[in-house]
Formats: sequence, C-alpha cells, structure tokens
Amino acid sequence: HPGGYVFAIESSCDETACAVLDGNGRVLAEAVLSQAGHAEFGGVVPEIAARAHLLHLPELARRVLAEAAIAEPGFVPADLVAVAASTGPGLIGGLIVGSGLGRGLALSLGVPFVPVNHIEAHALTARLPGLVPGGAEFPYLLLLVSGGHCQCIAVDGLGSYRRLGGTIDDAAGEAFDKVAKLLGLGWPGGPALERLALEGDPAAIPLPRPLLGRAGCDFSFSGLKTAVAQRLAGRPADQALDRREAADLAASFQAAVADVMADRVRHALGMMPEATLLVAAGGVAANATLRSRLAAVASAQGVRFAAPPLRLCTDNAVMVAWTAIERLRAGAVEGGVSGDLLTPAR
Ligand code: KG4
Ligand code: ZN
Repeated sequence: HPGGYVFAIESSCDETACAVLDGNGRVLAEAVLSQAGHAEFGGVVPEIAARAHLLHLPELARRVLAEAAIAEPGFVPADLVAVAASTGPGLIGGLIVGSGLGRGLALSLGVPFVPVNHIEAHALTARLPGLVPGGAEFPYLLLLVSGGHCQCIAVDGLGSYRRLGGTIDDAAGEAFDKVAKLLGLGWPGGPALERLALEGDPAAIPLPRPLLGRAGCDFSFSGLKTAVAQRLAGRPADQALDRREAADLAASFQAAVADVMADRVRHALGMMPEATLLVAAGGVAANATLRSRLAAVASAQGVRFAAPPLRLCTDNAVMVAWTAIERLRAGAVEGGVSGDLLTPAR
C-alpha cells in the first residue's frame, strides 16, 4: 500500500486499545477493552489500571493485527510504516506499558515510533476522513469534556493548539460521577444520571451556575456538586430519597451543567472568531441535553457543530493512529505539541 499502515496503542487511563489504519485514515481493525474492575472503587485506581494493561495489551495487539490481515488480505505487520502510542498526559503505569510495547514493535520492524499527546489525539479526531460532514478544516474550537478532561481548545493547525480555558476544579465527567454517587447511582455515573434525569423536572431544584457570565471560558463544578450534597444533607434523616426527588435533582443538576457549558462555549467562540466549526468530544459529549444546547449555541453564532460518534469521542486507539498519520504526512514524526496542552489532565 503506497501510504503504508500505522499501528497505534492507547493505554493512558482505563481503556486498553489498539488500531491499524491505512495512510488515508481508513480503519482496518480496532478494539477497545474497558476495564470493569474500577467500579467498586468509584473511580480509576492507577495500580489496577496499569496491571490490567500489562495483562491484556499484548493479546489485544495480536488480535487487532490478525483482524487487520482479515480486513486487508495480504496485510502483514511488516507493512507498518510506523507505530504510535499515547505517551501523555495520563496515568504513568499505563503509559509505560503502552509505549513500551509500541517502541519494542517499532524497533523490531525498523520503523519510527511516534509518541502521541493524548489531548492532541482527541483534538484531531474530528479530522478523520468522513467523520464530520463537510470536513474539519483548521481552525476549529474543541470542547473536550470527559472524566479526566474539561477544556476549550483552539485547534489552529497541526501541532498548534491554544487552551482557551478549562476547569478550575473538577472535570465535567467527574462532577456527573460524584453527583450520581450522591444519588446512589453506579459508576461511571453520567449515563445513569442522564437516564434518571429524563423522569425529573429540570426546574424543580434551584442550583448554582458556577462562573456563568464570567469573562473567559473557565469551568467550575465543585460548587454545584456541593450544592447537591447540601440539598441531600438538609433532608430529614429518617426519610429515604424517593425516586421522584432523585430524578428532579438529576434533571436540575444536568440543566445547571448545560447552562454553564453553553455559556462557557459561547464565550470560547467569541475568543476564537475565526472558527467556523465547534467540535465536542469526550464521554460527557454523549449527553443529549448538552449536545442539543451546544448545537444551539453554535447555530446562534453561525458556526457548524459536530460531535464524533461516541466510540471515537471516548478513549480509543484510532485517534492515536490518526494523529500519527497527520504528523507523518507533515513530516513531523518527532515534532511535539506547541502551546500548553501538556498540562496533566488526570
Ligand atoms: O471520555 P471518557 O469515556 O473517559 C475519560 O474520562 O477519558 O469519559 C468518561 C466520563 C465519565 O465521567 C462519565 O460519567 C461521563 O464521561 N459520561 C457522561 C455520559 N456518558 C459518559 N456524562 C454525562 N452524560 C452522559 N450520557
Ligand atoms: Zn481521553
């Protein structure tokens, strides 16, 4: 194949993932293993995550390479022109496992190893061919909202990113998870909270809108979480939280987050008048209420809105391979990321 193939690994948090893409960004094979063992702790435990990557990554890599050979008869690992892995930010144990395997494979094949910044990979996902109708030409605004990330990034060009604002305390997904926990829902709590909110009244319980109307596009969620906790603490001790009340709290919390996010993104678009596209990514971008609010903000400012499919919004190796391909095309294998994206996000 003229463009060659790229193999990529993602292991920065609790997803173990591999992918093979051709030089045009076509996915030959990919797989994501989500570690289930963290639920009982209510969050990702770094030691458990690293050991799970160590246990599962080699077999997953073998499987994805075998599946690539089925998708593209004649494909052999020797056809790889590069191997990529997320090298940060993230949990160091998992990063060591992933980059160790990646470097070893690259060394054995005599091809370059491409270290990929995990946030850059989220930022460039929208540029995968065919993903966003009309394409995602630079520059665009990225809202990255997940369990570990919460920031507005001006994606000016390849390797050129500006963090316009971000959370000053919790990430958005963290807030969803903490409030879900207060309401007795499982972990991760975002999807469960969204389901419960469907039965509730978003106007039932007054909650704060942290930083709403403030200059810039920083986020804050810890006060919102505290307000929910205080609301629960103020109830009679002998009275169990009924489903109706829990649903009202869930819906009111979600409405507060949506109000804040819409306001912050409106400001971010104002800080980036050259953007004609708003991209939302990360697990929280799966939330339908948030999506529709973001779409409304974008359309009010005459900007297109796109959210990659959830599978590519959350951690995966396709985005890592794609970032390597963009860099290889630009001839910048060892090039890094400019701007201040290297701030640890987890
Ligand atoms: O991107 P992701 O899978 O992993 C990282 O954190 O990198 O995001 C997971 C986060 C969790 O906090 C989860 O509760 C949240 O995204 N989430 C949601 C929804 N689905 C996932 N939050 C709100 N609404 C959802 N539907
Ligand atoms: Zn991520």
